[in-house]
Amino acid sequence: MFDFKPSVDADKATAWADLIGAVDGVTSGERDAIANMANVASLLWELIPDLNWAGFYRMVDGELVLGPFHGRAACIRIALGSGVCGTAAASATTQLVEDVHAFPGHIACDAASASELVVPIIVDGAVIAVLDLDSPKPARFDAVDAAQAERLCALLAGRLAG
Ligand code: SME
Repeated sequence: MFDFKPSVDADKATAWADLIGAVDGVTSGERDAIANMANVASLLWELIPDLNWAGFYRMVDGELVLGPFHGRAACIRIALGSGVCGTAAASATTQLVEDVHAFPGHIACDAASASELVVPIIVDGAVIAVLDLDSPKPARFDAVDAAQAERLCALLAGRLAG
């Protein structure tokens, strides 16, 4: 039904542009947040290289609860302020972590993870979810990834609000 292919040898900007275009197409007109998160996790997995986990934690009754993802089974609940995801949610700021082992309180769901990027999704001033990307490569994510992931999350804010 949807057949998005990564550009051959895509550079980073092209990969993110492909991804955001695909997300826009797939989520347009669909109001079910879980369905949209599931398709976005799939597209991230297919179009962004060197990931070992890509998905979402949703804010439910004041804590983060595992949402749709690709990768290994992960911890289900994360308290605000705990780990990289809980820090992003509590502070409503992007967390770009070059070395997860140096991040105080990092939660190791997959021992293979070496670096991580977590971006809050904010609707009407409230964090409703976080996007979490993990990589087995140290320092996999940079400022370009962070800026593009923030663009993605700004788009998603309007598609996950229900
Ligand atoms: N590493 C995250 C936990 C979630 S997993 O990476 C999927 C953290 O420290 O919050």
